[in-house]
Amino acid sequence: MYKALYRQYRPEVFDEVLGQDHIVRILKNQIATSGTSHAYLFCGTRGTGKTTTARLLAKGLNCLSDGERPCGVCDNCRAIKEGNFLDVIEIDAASNNGVDDVRELRESVKYPPATGRMKVYIIDEVHMLSQEAFNALLKTLEEPPEYVTFILATTEVHKLPATVLSRCMRLDFRRVPESVLIKGMADICSKIGIDVSEDALRIIAANSDGSVRDGLSILDQCISGRDSKVGAEDVLEFLGASGDEDFIKLTDLVRKKKTEEAIVFLDGILSDGKDVRQFMRDWINHYRNLLMVRFMRNPETVISMSAENIDRIRRQAAVLELEDINRGILELSSMADEARWSTQPRILLELAIVRLCMGAGQIRELSEVEFDEPAPIPAAKAAVTAEPAAAQKPVAAEKRAAAEKRAEPVEAEIVPQAAQAKAAEGFDCEDIWNKVFEDGESEQGSIYLIRNGGRITSIDENTFTVAANNSFVKEHAEKSRRLIEHLVEKHTGKYRAMNVVLAGGGQPEKTADEIAAQASDVLGIKVEVK
Ligand SMILES: Nc1ncnc2c1ncn2[C@@H]1O[C@H](COP(=O)(O)OP(=O)(O)OP(=O)(O)O)[C@@H](O)[C@H]1O
Ligand SMILES: [Mg+2]
Ligand SMILES: [Zn+2]
Repeated sequence: MYKALYRQYRPEVFDEVLGQDHIVRILKNQIATSGTSHAYLFCGTRGTGKTTTARLLAKGLNCLSDGERPCGVCDNCRAIKEGNFLDVIEIDAASNNGVDDVRELRESVKYPPATGRMKVYIIDEVHMLSQEAFNALLKTLEEPPEYVTFILATTEVHKLPATVLSRCMRLDFRRVPESVLIKGMADICSKIGIDVSEDALRIIAANSDGSVRDGLSILDQCISGRDSKVGAEDVLEFLGASGDEDFIKLTDLVRKKKTEEAIVFLDGILSDGKDVRQFMRDWINHYRNLLMVRFMRNPETVISMSAENIDRIRRQAAVLELEDINRGILELSSMADEARWSTQPRILLELAIVRLCMGAGQIRELSEVEFDEPAPIPAAKAAVTAEPAAAQKPVAAEKRAAAEKRAEPVEAEIVPQAAQAKAAEGFDCEDIWNKVFEDGESEQGSIYLIRNGGRITSIDENTFTVAANNSFVKEHAEKSRRLIEHLVEKHTGKYRAMNVVLAGGGQPEKTADEIAAQASDVLGIKVEVK
């Protein structure tokens, strides 16, 4: 009978576990020194080795070998592998989540191990236990007999009561880095004698999102039906992914606000049989690549792509505003989120295209109408008293209202450093800064970057000074000069020119890691630098 790769290749010894070195080190050491704990909590993303490691620990505690434990070959290790070892009890809390189940467990805990050294209870998906069941379990977790070890495993650690957390040694399983996954899959491929190209493995790894199980499952499906070689094209075909060309074109159409053409183009791609959700993920990834080439001198290190492809992405990034990229990522990520539960992901994708086309237009139109006109004073007045403005420029006002309605809530609310001294004319710099951004948020999606990364340090007769925390914020503030000046004018009653300076007279440039962390914070997606 055919067995899926991820069932067939479950690690038998610690050294086969991929990407969880921090955990393996601790457990090996504890087993070797008989210093294991009586209750563990394994948490983390699905498919990263929690159940696998729980069994390894159970084996390690019962292994008969004098050398490294578990050995994987002694009678006990083998019986545990086969699920025939009386003293290792696996409980799936998803289907045994009642208080009676836990009472039964507590009964059985009273009896010492039948054949092994340690009785090990592995409670998988432990977050599924009912409140009562948790309470019942607590008593046992508090004082388990010497011969009992509990291993609780869950993907949703936030659902566990603090009382349980405090009684366990918690080990967090991480997403497995792509490079480790590639190497692990390459080993398996050579074991089973299948030639899968490095590029193919790279694509599979990139699509596994750090889950070894997902990686093996994609690999499995790419191999099946092929007897010799698997190349990148085979994987792409299986994933239903599109080439970069399509994303460059689609992004370009969106940039040019060609809504109809964009939808027709999408239709062409999807009618080729591409998977909608996969397409969404790939498009987001394209935007991520655009972001990376904007931020980084050597994006080759974070984008696994040929130099030619990177050049093409670089050309596109050069004609896009940072806000467009930012918006694209936010819009597409929220779409992909919704699409997970939707039976009609395609409609969401089309809607996202419409919104992106509209959004890009709104920003441009607003800035043209409101800021590119001469005579700044009347314009500013009009903005303060909304009615006349609406009468004069119905379109802009309507658009603005629409933009305001759609404004994303801003989460990050870092209060600018200490309330700054009031400026000469009695302005509260912090207050004005906040007001400026309350107005600005609805107009440009990424403006809160500037809000959190800078502050007004002084407001004088004809100028005001903004201190930016880093050169990225400085550049951004300068780009939004008209908007910021305009809004400051609105709140101070007089036009003043903006000076932007680096806080502390200039800080060292950020490292790639810091930039990635910052981008992750702002965008709410994982941006990694390897
Ligand atoms: N860290 C890893 N190293 C090697 N293989 C792994 C690892 N994590 C998962 N696998 C593979 O994926 C399969 C499933 O892993 P496992 O059941 O341990 O994941 P899990 O973290 O318990 O997932 P879930 O949260 O869905 O229960 C294993 O049989 C193995 O083939
Ligand atoms: Mg599991
Ligand atoms: Zn053994």
